Amino acid sequence: MTAPTQELGSGRTDGQRPAVRLDAVSKVYGRGASSLLALDKVSLDAAQGEFVCLLGASGCGKSTLLNLVAGLDRPTTGTIETGERKIAMMFQEPALFPWLTVSGNIELALRVQGLDRTARRARAAELLDVVHLGGFAKKRPHELSGGMRQRVSLARALAQEADLLLMDEPFGALDAMTRDLLHDELERIWRERNLAVLFVTHNVREAVRLGDRVVLLSSRPGQVIEDYPVRLPRPRRTESAEVAELAGRITERLKEEVSRHGR
Ligand SMILES: Nc1ncnc2c1ncn2[C@@H]1O[C@H](COP(=O)(O)OP(=O)(O)O)[C@@H](O)[C@H]1O
Ligand SMILES: [Mg+2]
Repeated sequence: MTAPTQELGSGRTDGQRPAVRLDAVSKVYGRGASSLLALDKVSLDAAQGEFVCLLGASGCGKSTLLNLVAGLDRPTTGTIETGERKIAMMFQEPALFPWLTVSGNIELALRVQGLDRTARRARAAELLDVVHLGGFAKKRPHELSGGMRQRVSLARALAQEADLLLMDEPFGALDAMTRDLLHDELERIWRERNLAVLFVTHNVREAVRLGDRVVLLSSRPGQVIEDYPVRLPRPRRTESAEVAELAGRITERLKEEVSRHGR
């Protein structure tokens, strides 16, 4: 069967190839006696338009995996393919430039696209509307709440017109209510833009709330131990019984894994 070719906003189409494919990716930090195996033969792929959550205990190699996909570091062995896709990354800390306005932070990301100043400002305003921060263009990061700063960071990631969005515990530092709101917004944007998302979290419910799949990683070295499809209808509610039920099962599996490693 032939999948229909998806028309992406960016105009890049890649047929049926997955948006990202990892094939037996291992990562060793350091050398000799002090070397550390962080990832062990991880194979994984995600289709364009698919939302994949990577779940695992702290230290299991989740950030390592995202950094490799982002091209910030190289695997020791194995391969990672992302085609010609543009990749944007979002971290737990928004890492905005404090001396720039909210708009300025986004305009900076737009510079590389060769837009002139007026066009950059207009595009930044559009993106701020997308993340519901329309009135905040002239504020500076310190004038915003944590949730608002993460929205700016999301708008900046979107400014890069990426097809593949990598998110490393982006909402980990937020309160539950703000996190719920951002889940809704992220879900809407993901759908509208048909993004492929790799979303790292250690929060089981968050993974079930958001993912088309929840990929469970073992404790160090990180290996894929389960790949749960999440067939619940969207939009989901984090506190719903359905989310809780699947999250409960995954948590049991995760506990087994952690106790196996004597933590
Ligand atoms: N640059 C590095 N050099 C050496 N060890 C590292 C480096 N980055 C991460 N590690 C180690 O690799 C393991 C996985 O780390 P990380 O990918 O940050 O895990 P996670 O994001 O799941 O918490 C940890 O034991 C960590 O200490
Ligand atoms: Mg991490």
